[in-house]
Amino acid sequence: MRALFHHPLTRVAAVLGVALALTACGGGPTGDGKPVKSSADEIARGKYLAKAADCAACHTAPGGAPFAGGAALESEFGAMYGSNITPDPQHGIGKWSKDDFYKAVHDGTSPGGRHLYPAMPYASYRAMPREDVDAIYAYLMQLPAVAQPSKPDELRFPYNIRFGMMFWKMLFLKDELPVASQGQSPEWVRGRYVANVLGHCAECHTPRGALGQLDLGLQWQGAQIGRWLAPDITPKGLAERGWTEKDIGTFMKTGIAPQGSAWGEMHTVVALSTQHLTEEDGKAMVRFMTGDKPMEAVPAKEDATADQKLGPGRQTYLNVCAGCHGVSGEGRSHVAVAMAGNSTLRIGDPRNLVVSVLDGIEAQQFTGYERMQEMPGFANDLSDQEIADLSNYLRVRFGGQPASVTADAVSKMRAKGPVAKH
Ligand code: HEC
Ligand code: HEC
Ligand code: HEC
Repeated sequence: MRALFHHPLTRVAAVLGVALALTACGGGPTGDGKPVKSSADEIARGKYLAKAADCAACHTAPGGAPFAGGAALESEFGAMYGSNITPDPQHGIGKWSKDDFYKAVHDGTSPGGRHLYPAMPYASYRAMPREDVDAIYAYLMQLPAVAQPSKPDELRFPYNIRFGMMFWKMLFLKDELPVASQGQSPEWVRGRYVANVLGHCAECHTPRGALGQLDLGLQWQGAQIGRWLAPDITPKGLAERGWTEKDIGTFMKTGIAPQGSAWGEMHTVVALSTQHLTEEDGKAMVRFMTGDKPMEAVPAKEDATADQKLGPGRQTYLNVCAGCHGVSGEGRSHVAVAMAGNSTLRIGDPRNLVVSVLDGIEAQQFTGYERMQEMPGFANDLSDQEIADLSNYLRVRFGGQPASVTADAVSKMRAKGPVAKH
């Protein structure tokens, strides 16, 4: 399963108390349905931009035709699906003009005044210049048309009242998102575009407010996405977890760094999008993440006394984890990442550690020939107390974090999960 997208955005309609009787005004797409002629250059640029903006993550279903829609975005309010954006005249955007397309990407409004939910990340894309949106249009319009209907959303009443999105946009749609780092260099400026606009990193790494809007005062400071935490990726957050510029670059390019691997939603980001960035854009993104004056990365604080002090946790580690992650947490190449120096153990919030032990991590393909087997889930093998002890051991031993995980906290994460209970 993929894309456990957690979008509380649909709550908005209810909160704003929208009158049901109101519906969007009529009108349809304004294109003529004829093939769109574009230069090979523009199409190639559009293809690159569509990758950098990761349109496929939501508009291509696993195993489905490119951009034919159907990728599920789960939320607590029900499921949504990326739409068919191939040039099919009936089910896709075949009859859309350039202007129609620009309005969808820039304003979140489809032909007929249909307001899109911000699960479509137009809050980020809004800062794309017209010529870049046009290039993506040129690229999409010459792809094979796929006659596959877009799946309607399955949001529950009253979250499915689209009209409320109009008010939401009036309140929350800003022309540009704030930045989490300081800089002025041309590289930083380009990186801002690559990460903040195209890469829409904020959509997962920025927490959301009560109406599902991005809480822009906390830009990039970390947010919960489904069961996972998309951690703090501000320059300070990254430096405190040991990320150097070089390692960030490697992670965004290959999905693996000394600090660990990308998994879940983040693996998709690397696999479909950031690994394809040009060297220049990749570097610019890193410059934007660290700022023009990068902070010194803080080395991992290991505490070997944990081996005695937290004996039960260590024992569980040796029994079930060390075979893959190494007796001293050193990892095994092509098998599993190291625990020593792992950034996941250095996040104050233990969620990703606990949930990876409960649910496991699917086998993943990385760039080049690297691939890792799956990490099995241990929900049925370990008790809440055992997982708490194990987590505390790893946090203290390798993470410089306090032994603050309780069995109760593990139980809560277990209860909300997709895994079978004991
Ligand atoms: C994080 C997921 C996500 C990403 C990334 C994303 N979209 Fe979407 N998009 C959606 C969802 C969900 C919808 C349907 C929203 C709705 O029904 O309100 C949508 C709707 C659309 C529509 C309107 C289709 C229609 O029939 O009304 C267009 C056009 C579109 N997206 C284009 C793009 C382009 C181009 C990109 C990349 C630049 C992109 N999307 C990236 C999730 C995404
Ligand atoms: C669809 C949601 C999503 C998007 C979009 C996204 N991320 Fe992530 N990111 C996550 C999740 C979830 C994790 C935690 C899993 C992991 O570490 O691989 C994560 C982890 C990371 C990490 C590793 C942090 C650590 O300390 O281990 C970095 C760095 C990162 N993201 C950077 C980015 C950047 C830069 C972008 C934009 C180009 C981005 N992410 C876009 C969801 C997302
Ligand atoms: C069968 C081998 C295997 C076993 C056993 C195993 N793991 Fe893993 N683990 C992996 C692999 C492989 C990854 C990387 C997955 C990926 O990103 O593709 C991983 C990733 C992780 C991560 C995420 C770290 C990161 O940054 O990528 C944590 C935390 C973790 N394991 C902890 C544990 C703990 C604790 C145990 C014991 C309960 C354990 N693992 C048992 C193979 C294993």
